[in-house]
Amino acid sequence: MAKKLFFSGIQPTGELHIGNYLGAIQRWVKLVDSGEYEGIMCVVDYHAMTVPYEQATLKQRSLEAATMLMACGISADKALLFIQSYVPQHTELAWVLNCSCMIGELSRMTQFKDKSKDKGESVAVGLFTYPVLMAADILLYKAAYVPVGEDQIQHLELAREIVRRFNSRFGETFPEPQPLIGEAKRIMGLDGESKMSKSMGNTIALSESPESIWKKLAPAKTDERRKKRSDPGVPTDCNVYMSYHRYFSPAEDLAYVDKGCRSAGIGCLECKKLLAKNMEKELGPIRKRYEDLRQHPQKVEAYLNESAEKCRAIAEATMHEVRSKIGVR
Ligand code: TRP
Repeated sequence: MAKKLFFSGIQPTGELHIGNYLGAIQRWVKLVDSGEYEGIMCVVDYHAMTVPYEQATLKQRSLEAATMLMACGISADKALLFIQSYVPQHTELAWVLNCSCMIGELSRMTQFKDKSKDKGESVAVGLFTYPVLMAADILLYKAAYVPVGEDQIQHLELAREIVRRFNSRFGETFPEPQPLIGEAKRIMGLDGESKMSKSMGNTIALSESPESIWKKLAPAKTDERRKKRSDPGVPTDCNVYMSYHRYFSPAEDLAYVDKGCRSAGIGCLECKKLLAKNMEKELGPIRKRYEDLRQHPQKVEAYLNESAEKCRAIAEATMHEVRSKIGVR
């Protein structure tokens, strides 16, 4: 039986962190390794232009993001990985789809509303049509599945609406992409107050050394009940437990800290030390592979170029069909 195709994208904004890892990358690796899916993954550099950005470093950041994805386990023998701008058909299809998408629909996108808040009319049109480019990313490959986090579900629903409108006007062309919703992991930052993100300065980067991670982890907020070492706490009210321990530590360690926290048998620092050890077990090999790949950028470039070539062939076939249906060329 033919494998199911999934497509997903990630923005090259700053260093990838454990929020990106737990929320997206780890799932991609699992889907690819399951053998059930074929995967196409994309570092979306054109999306990164929709907000003020640094042109001097964008290319570098895109390459670093791709390198990190490889370090996490995406590889040439398993999946396609490329940088969006290497396949010009993405922006070409986005234009066509712009004409099948209504201003009203885009105005209802909560991400656009958040990002354009208090900016009046000084918002790039690109930010407004961001979800249309995202739809183009998926539809170019006629991907049936899209692993996304909660925050992107609305964009995916819009993509499905665009598909229905396009298909009914121009004839059956694209499948409606289905979201692959995993366990909802909304990883909070070290402050415990907002989602982990580069812009909030509350991240643990995937490439960070254990020493640097410990410097952030040691003072990180825990359950407020534990003011003194002898005060018992509730792990489910502790960000360190809920956002990190839960995902990095094996069941027996979780049972141990749960009991130790509730009985004040262990202190927060001991709990965090165990976490740091478990994080290093998972992140250490990733960091080492990342450092190794950084020494061999030609390996990364070869993979990205080869993937882009294959993607351009698929994308061009789709565009050939689209151009003819819409009445150009
Ligand atoms: N908008 C997505 C995000 O910020 C990234 C993205 C771009 C994407 N194109 C995509 C995700 C296509 C899935 C499919 O997370």
